[in-house]
Order: sequence, then C-alpha cells, then structure tokens
Amino acid sequence: MRIDIITIFPDYFAPLELSLIGKARAAGILDIRVHDLRSWTYDRHKTVDDTPYGGGPGMVMKPEPWGEALDAVTAPAETAAAPPVPPAAPGPRLILPAPSGVPFTQVHAERLSDEPWLVFACGRYEGIDARVVDDAWERMPVEELSIGDYVLAGGESATLVMVETISRLMPGVLGNADSAVQDSFAPGAMENLLEGAVYTKPPVWRGREVPPVLLSGDHGAVDRWRRDEALRKTARNRPELLREIPENHLDQHDQDVLRGARLQVGSESVAD
Ligand code: ADE
Repeated sequence: MRIDIITIFPDYFAPLELSLIGKARAAGILDIRVHDLRSWTYDRHKTVDDTPYGGGPGMVMKPEPWGEALDAVTAPAETAAAPPVPPAAPGPRLILPAPSGVPFTQVHAERLSDEPWLVFACGRYEGIDARVVDDAWERMPVEELSIGDYVLAGGESATLVMVETISRLMPGVLGNADSAVQDSFAPGAMENLLEGAVYTKPPVWRGREVPPVLLSGDHGAVDRWRRDEALRKTARNRPELLREIPENHLDQHDQDVLRGARLQVGSESVAD
C-alpha cells in the first residue's frame, strides 16, 4: 500500500520509521511518503493560513497550497511511454482527519487496509478551506474521519493513529496474523466483547497467581474463562456494547456471568 501524508510538520511522522511499520516499510509492504505542505507556498513566510471569512476566532488553511499539494501528490506517475495510458492500479483515496468527521472504527480500518493508496491531509488551526474537499471529490473519493470526541491541535496525531491501525491489518505486517483476529472490535472475533486480562510467566509474581485455569491445558475451560472475562470487562468498561449483542448469542452461562457483573457494578456505584 502507498500512503502519502501532507502536513506542515513532517517531523511528526518520525515514529513511522519504528517497530512494525518501520519493518513493513523496509520489507516493501508499505510505501509511506511524507510531504511538507509549505513546499507549495511561494511567499517569504511560506504562509498556509489566513483569517476566516465571516469572522470568528482562529485561522483557516488556505486552499491554494492544499490544491497544489494534492494535485502533485496524486498525479499519476510519469512514464517514458509516449501515449498516456489509463492508470492500471486504482487511484488514491483521500482521508481528512477532523473532529467533525465520521467516527473511525476497526470496521473502517479493515476496509481501508485493502486500499492500494491512501492520502492523509493533516489540517491545523480551524481546518482547511472547504473548497479543497469539494475540488478533491472531483478526482478521488474523500472520507472525513474523527478518532474521538475531543479536539486535537491538528490532524497529525490522528493520522498516526489511523495509519498504525490500518497498517497492522495488512498481510505480513503483524508477526502473528492471529493476534489481529483476537483483537477487541475485530469483526467476527468475540462479537462486540472487549479482550479480557492476559498473563505470561512467571506463574506467581509478587504473591499474585496466574488464574489456574490458564495452566490447566484444558482448552475448552480456557476458552470459557476468556469469554467470562471478556463479558465482565465489557460490562464494566463499555456496557453499551453488550446491548448490541443479539440475545440468542448469549447462552445461559453468559447471562449468569453478566448478571453477576451487573450486581458488582451496582454495588460499586452504591459504595461510591
Ligand atoms: N483533528 C483534531 N481533532 C481531531 C479528532 N478528534 N480526530 C481526527 N482529527 C482531528
């Protein structure tokens, strides 16, 4: 997959040289290119923002540098062959991180991990002049995505979050492909349940034992215990996710575990 990132802070993306993503780049699975928006400014101060029409606080990113940057970054590669041939590979998809975007979820990440080419446009200040999106739509699909109901200083950290989430789903990026299958929120994993507690050696640490079932070698019992833990954790941290599970996906044992979890949450709130 090719990923282009346009930003006024290219250094922000140094972490994409590390760890799994760094290795995927070295292996040629990911081709990440970071571009400085200011390369498409022509004044002495390399200006990328201006005051908003209609008044109000803050500054808005100017359309000209963005328009030129997107044109340059998404231009089909020039080939020596004279007659222009239609591009063989599908073109880019533009992602605009914004607090006003559609909430980004694992479902988006799964879908976007199949794309051949993503372009992230990192806005700052009060955002980018809206005509840039309308203009981009003429040439490529555009998605405005938010990583949560809070306001960051710019789209850079949201882009890092999305690039990492998408990249680790691509074949060959994770060491063990099964680890993505078991993720909380992975489609088809334990539907809508959060991943419960995990343990490793030693079996006793500071007097705390690993739950004995995990050492029992009884795979059925381990699966049951993991599901119980997932149910309890979801009830505690994200009770709204449980309401989305169809009733016939919860057996009698599940319902007993949830009843116990609810009683516990109830008694905690009384104690508070
Ligand atoms: N830019 C600023 N806040 C953001 C958010 N919550 N998600 C995506 N991009 C943003």
